[in-house]
Amino acid sequence: MVDILLERKSVRKYTNEDVEKKDLNYILHAAMSAPTARNTRCYSFIAIKDKEIHRKIAAVHHAAQMILQAPLAILVVGDKNVAFEEYLPQDCSAATQNILLAATARGYGSVWCGVYSNKKISEAVEKLFNLPENIKAFSIVVIGKSTDSNPPKNRWQPEKIKYETWE
Ligand SMILES: Cc1cc2nc3c(=O)[nH]c(=O)nc-3n(C[C@H](O)[C@H](O)[C@H](O)COP(=O)(O)O)c2cc1C
Repeated sequence: MVDILLERKSVRKYTNEDVEKKDLNYILHAAMSAPTARNTRCYSFIAIKDKEIHRKIAAVHHAAQMILQAPLAILVVGDKNVAFEEYLPQDCSAATQNILLAATARGYGSVWCGVYSNKKISEAVEKLFNLPENIKAFSIVVIGKSTDSNPPKNRWQPEKIKYETWE
């Protein structure tokens, strides 16, 4: 498992190969296995293979152009009426990270495209998917077989670590 954690990287170039249904289900099962505050499981997921919808997403999300080449995207959403207090973004973040790790484990490349913190993008995505007022668009994870052969960067930085206190 640790290898998967260290192997994950953002992948923005893909082959045409489809994501198999069993892999999609594994990825979504992993997403639903993420922790949520008070176990509300406020998330839902929209799996999107339709290229027309991919094009519509690319038109409103400047940093998600890689979706035009990808076979699959997953829109992670959260229900603000179900989430505990203000924990919707944390809950959906954990689910999003699990999607990235599960995709890596199944041999796919993936990238997290932020939605929630950008008012213009989140409103456009919520309109595009006709989401009810209580369902907030959180992230779009783009997934496909990678054509990027660069190894993941080693991000080990011991200077980031302190023990017991800040000083
Ligand atoms: C909250 C969040 C939003 C992100 N949004 C985008 C995005 O819109 N487009 C994109 O190409 N990458 C996006 N990324 C991916 C980051 O650019 C990437 O994780 C970072 O550069 C580190 O690279 P790595 O994932 O390969 O380790 C996002 C990552 C996070 C955590």
